[in-house]
Amino acid sequence: MCGIVGYTGTQNAAPILLEGLKKLEYRGYDSAGIAVMDAGSISVNKVKGRIANLCERTDDGSSVSGTTGIGHTRWATHGAPTEENAHPHLSNDGRFAIVHNGIIENYMNLREELISDGYVFQSETDTEVIVHLLEMYYRGNVRDALIRTANRLSGSYALGVICSEEPGRIYAVREKSPLILGLGMGENFFASDVTALVNHTRNVIYLEDGEFAELTPEEIRVFDVTGRELIKTPSRILWDVQAAEKGGYEHFMLKEIMEQPAAVKATIAPRIRDGAVVFEELRDVGELISGVRKIIITACGSAYYAGCAGKYALEKLTRIPVEVVLASELRYSDPLIDSETLLIVISQSGETADTIAAMKECSQRGARTLAVVNVVGSTVATLADYTVYTWAGPEIAVATTKGYTTQVAVLYMLSVCFARALGRIGEEEKMLTEELQQLPRLIQQAIDLNPSIPLLAKKYHASKALFFIGRNTDYAVALEGALKMKEISYLHAEAYAAGELKHGTIALIEEHQPVVALCCNPDIMEKTLSNIVEVKSRGAEVLALTFRNNQKILSVADDLLFIPAVSALFSAVPEIVPLQLLAYHVAKENGCDIDKPKNLAKSVTVE
Ligand code: F6R
Repeated sequence: MCGIVGYTGTQNAAPILLEGLKKLEYRGYDSAGIAVMDAGSISVNKVKGRIANLCERTDDGSSVSGTTGIGHTRWATHGAPTEENAHPHLSNDGRFAIVHNGIIENYMNLREELISDGYVFQSETDTEVIVHLLEMYYRGNVRDALIRTANRLSGSYALGVICSEEPGRIYAVREKSPLILGLGMGENFFASDVTALVNHTRNVIYLEDGEFAELTPEEIRVFDVTGRELIKTPSRILWDVQAAEKGGYEHFMLKEIMEQPAAVKATIAPRIRDGAVVFEELRDVGELISGVRKIIITACGSAYYAGCAGKYALEKLTRIPVEVVLASELRYSDPLIDSETLLIVISQSGETADTIAAMKECSQRGARTLAVVNVVGSTVATLADYTVYTWAGPEIAVATTKGYTTQVAVLYMLSVCFARALGRIGEEEKMLTEELQQLPRLIQQAIDLNPSIPLLAKKYHASKALFFIGRNTDYAVALEGALKMKEISYLHAEAYAAGELKHGTIALIEEHQPVVALCCNPDIMEKTLSNIVEVKSRGAEVLALTFRNNQKILSVADDLLFIPAVSALFSAVPEIVPLQLLAYHVAKENGCDIDKPKNLAKSVTVE
C-alpha cells in the first residue's frame, strides 16, 4: 500500500531517498516523509500531499545532512492523511525512527498497553506502536529489540528502522509485505518495490517473511527470528521500470486481481476478534442499528453492484429490508427517508459526484449515513456519520477489482455485526466469522482453479455479445461480471436474472450465442439449470461458473469456470474473480487499453 525506501552510504541520503520516493509515486499516496541520521541525531521532515512539497521543504534534500536515512510514501489507512500521521514516526526518546508498509492487526491492544506504560502517541496510525515497542525493548542492542518487537506484532509489515545510537546502520524487517535489499558499491539500499532501486543497482536480495536485515555502507547481513545469520543469494533485476511498477504483471488490473487475497485479508482480519466481528469505528453498534427500519444502499457502477451482492447477507442476517438504489436515481427520486433509515454509501474513491449528492440529499431528510470507502479522508468518508474503510490499498486500474471485493467483504461483516447487535444471531457468529476468514484463501483458489481462462478468451473474444445469467446472489455477481466485460473489452455484455430470460431476452438467443451461466448458489441451482437447458436448446454456447464437483452443471455446459466450495451467503467474493480474469483476457485478446479503457475515468467527479 505505502512505499518505503532506505539508504546508507557516503552520499547525502536525503536527495537519494526523495528520488526513490518519486519512483514510488505511481502507486498512489497522500503524504510523504524522510528521516535522516547525522552526528547521532535524527531529523524528520514530513508533508501532507505531494513529494514535490517535501522537495520544496528540504531544497531537494540538500538542506538535510546525513548519509543514512529512511523514507515513506503513505496511503492512509488508520488515520487521516495528515502530517502527524505521515511516516517516519519517532520514539518518545527520539532514538528510533521507523517507516512501515502494511497493517498491524493487534495495534489497538498494543496501543492501550503502551499508553498505560506511559508512552505518548503523536499519531492515529497503527504503525506508531512499533516505534514505542522498540524503545521499550531496547537494552543497547537494536537487533534484539527488533526481534522482541516483531514477536509482539500480528499482521503484515515491511519495516525500515534507524537508531541514533548506530550511525551508518539501517535495519529492515519483512513479514507478509514486500521488501527488497539493493547491493551497491560502498552503499546499500532497501525498498518495498524494485522501481525505487533500479537507478542505483540491479543486484538485489529479496527478503522473506520473518527475516531481518542489517545494512551498512559496506555490507548487508540477514538474520532469522532467532538471530541466526542466513546466507542469501543475490538476484539480478531484469525488469525495466515499467514492468517493475506493475510487479512484473502486464497490467495494473491483473496485478490488482492477484492482490485480492491480501486486500480482502487486510479488510477482514483486523476486524475479527475472538470469533466476533468488531468495528471499532462504529463505536456503539447497538445504538447505530437499533431503531433502523430500512436500509438503503446507494452507489454507482461496481460499487452499486457490490451493494447488490451485499444486500442478500444483510437482509438474511438482520431481517431489516434493504433497498439498493443507484445514486444518480436516488437523488432525484424524492426518496422516502426518515430518521429510521440507515443509508449505506459505497465508494472506492469517495469522490463520485452522484454518490456524494445522493448522500447529502438523504442526510438532509434525516437518514443516518454509513460510508464504506477506500480512500481515507475523501469527501464521502468525511461527510458520513460513520465511516468504515475497506483498506484495499490504492487501486490504479480504472476498472475496479479489489475495490469491489473489499466492499462486498465489508457488507458481509456489517451483516454479521448488525445481526449480533440486534440479537438475531448468537453462537452462529463464530461459524460465520470463520467463513469470513476463509475468503482470502478462497479467492486464491478461485484464481488457481482456472488456468484455462486465456484459452476460453481466445474462443469467446470475437463474440458479438455475451449474456451473463444467474439467480439471487449469482445474479448480483453476474451484474458485476458483465460490467467488467463491457468496460475493458468493449464487448456487448448484459446480465439478466436467469428467470427473466423467458420474458423477452430469450428472443436474442441464437446458434452459438455465448451465455455465461453462474451456478454457485445451491439453493436455486436447479432453477438456473432449467434456464441453461432452455438456452442450450436454442443453440447457445454455455460457459458455466460453478463448483468443481457439480456433476449436473458439468454435464450440460460447453465450457467451465470453477470456484471452490463456499457458503452461498458469502459466495460473491470468490465468485467474481474468474469473471474478472475472463474480462481481462478477452480484453487482452482484443488488444484493448486495459488499465485505461476509452471514455472512462477512475474517479467520476461530474454528474
Ligand atoms: C467499474 C468502476 C466504476 C466505479 C464507479 C464508482 O469498474 O470502477 O463503475 O465503481 O464509478 O466509483 P467509486 O467506487 O469510486 O464511487
